[in-house]
Amino acid sequence: MTDREFGLVENIRVIKEKRGAVILAHNYQLGEVQDIADFVGDSLELSQKAAETDAGVIVFCGVHFMAETASILCPDKTVLLPDIHAGCPMADMITAERLMEKKQEHPQAVVVCYVNSSAEVKAESDICCPSANAVAVIESLDAEEILFVPDQYLGNYVSTKTGKKMILWPGFCPTHARITAERIKELKHENPRAKAVVHPECRPEVIAIADETTSTGGMCRYAQREDVTEMIVGTEIGIIYRLRKENPGKKFIPASEQAVCPNMKSITLEKVLWSLEEMEPEVKVPEDIRLRAKNAVDRMLRVGARR
Ligand code: 13P
Ligand code: SF4
Repeated sequence: MTDREFGLVENIRVIKEKRGAVILAHNYQLGEVQDIADFVGDSLELSQKAAETDAGVIVFCGVHFMAETASILCPDKTVLLPDIHAGCPMADMITAERLMEKKQEHPQAVVVCYVNSSAEVKAESDICCPSANAVAVIESLDAEEILFVPDQYLGNYVSTKTGKKMILWPGFCPTHARITAERIKELKHENPRAKAVVHPECRPEVIAIADETTSTGGMCRYAQREDVTEMIVGTEIGIIYRLRKENPGKKFIPASEQAVCPNMKSITLEKVLWSLEEMEPEVKVPEDIRLRAKNAVDRMLRVGARR
């Protein structure tokens, strides 16, 4: 640890205690931020942690929709997002207004929104789904018609897995779009023992050649398998820090060095400290939207609990 980190970590520890705060961090966060977190996980795991914590303050080291989900679940807690500009470009590819227009074209459709969406979009949806159990969410539905927003690649993956035909919104993650099947083939050739594990936000041709497709939490569990000694990691490269830390001696190869989400990287120790000192920026979902969005999130958590 550098002198800078040492001083910041100590100051964060003291103020965190004073505020009665819990720090939740997504698997893509900078290593230094993962190290000060009480819990590091994927979107579903983080919302489950937010729902069950006794802490009055949640410092969410992730992106805006994740902090909003915590606020939807815990309206009485203060949810801090250390960088209010940490958004998700994929979540921004749909708005509640555009979803309402689409719903008018398909009045019978059950609306499923990926958890990577705004609270307003969740409020217009029937059920939310995380990457961790998107297949289980779709299988839980008894519906003739499903409208899936905003990630076309996750939607296509789930549709292929379940055999359910879905209307897909044309959104995508710009970070995962940088991962190519050609590069994974090259890496497999250079590392013949490596398993290629990719995120369902990847393009269909990437998923088609992968050994496994799973959420970031699923990747962390997969890496711990005894038969896995080398892994080509098809997701945002921040997760490699955690994979290496938890699996010393195993080899983790990024599927693309360009798979960096700048929003996830915008949270630093300095911002976490400042956020706890100032008790801002706070993310709070207005009550009317929160109540409608909560139905969709609660349904997701009920399916998640059966995982
Ligand atoms: P996970 O829920 O798998 O961690 O994915 C979140 C995300 O933003 C992927 O880009
Ligand atoms: Fe959004 Fe992609 Fe960043 Fe995940 S990696 S937060 S989907 S832009």
